[in-house]
Amino acid sequence: MKGIVLAGGSGTRLHPTSLAISKQLIPVYDKPTIYYPLSTLMLAGITDILIISNPDDLPQFERLLGDGSQLGLRITYTAQAHPNGIAESLVLGADHIGDDSVALILGDNVFHGPRFSPMLREISRSLDGCVLFGYQVHDPERYGVGEVDADGKLISIEEKPTRPRSDRAITGLYFYDNNVVDIAKNIQPSARGELEITDVNLRYLADGKATMIDLGRGFTWLDTGTPEALLSASQFVHVLETRQQVYIACLEEIALRMGFIDADACYELGLKLSKSDYGRYVMKLAKNWGAGN
Ligand code: DAU
Repeated sequence: MKGIVLAGGSGTRLHPTSLAISKQLIPVYDKPTIYYPLSTLMLAGITDILIISNPDDLPQFERLLGDGSQLGLRITYTAQAHPNGIAESLVLGADHIGDDSVALILGDNVFHGPRFSPMLREISRSLDGCVLFGYQVHDPERYGVGEVDADGKLISIEEKPTRPRSDRAITGLYFYDNNVVDIAKNIQPSARGELEITDVNLRYLADGKATMIDLGRGFTWLDTGTPEALLSASQFVHVLETRQQVYIACLEEIALRMGFIDADACYELGLKLSKSDYGRYVMKLAKNWGAGN
């Protein structure tokens, strides 16, 4: 399975902060926002990842993440000339996807919850059609909204409805089989001129191939699109990391635990950041995993 992180857009709701920097490079507490969606793909066992962003911002992402080999990944980059819609990422990523299935994640989405990695790996193993993730919110009209029947079967999807049929937002993480490339190539721009991801999902729903998994109340899903949301996400990460001394979206740790790199390589990555708590955490973890033995 391939991965795509969509990290473009204009970030207007974060102006002036995002005037000179991509919003997905602004920190959520102690690391750039893009670490969070990237960590989600890694937890799904995905190592071949395409990052899509604005032409002006791509060099900064490359400076941050390089070719990904230090993390046992293969990271490539593609520009999206204009924010023509989330579904355009699947057209721009067609060569990257090739004959494979794909997990697409929005670059401003933060996921954190128990047993997330096994759940994602199981979905990627058994994927047929598309899998979406529902999350209960108090303001569903701000999102794509999924409605399920009494058996939990997905029966409707609407993008930002004025009268939502349920309180389940569809999060910015989407698993698709290979048909998604053809589907995305054939949808038309919406009234607001964008290739809507909801139209892709509606195609799967019409074919009886769309599933929505409810993430449940023990799970945390946040986006970082406004100053308020960014602050909440930072506070959430800060509380968990300081209370538990366990880091969220520490890429080096995930690469080590997933077996993408060994303990010595992980230690070296930590050493380069050793003036920060983050770097020292990585070094300590690597030592516990046998670095230097
Ligand atoms: O966060 C989940 C929601 O994301 C879903 O519930 C909605 O169904 C989906 O349409 C989307 O809604 P948003 O209103 O959050 O979409 P937005 O236009 O803000 O774009 C989401 C992210 O994707 C944002 O970080 C910018 C990036 N983006 C967006 C577009 C339209 C791009 O990189 N390129 C684009 O062309």
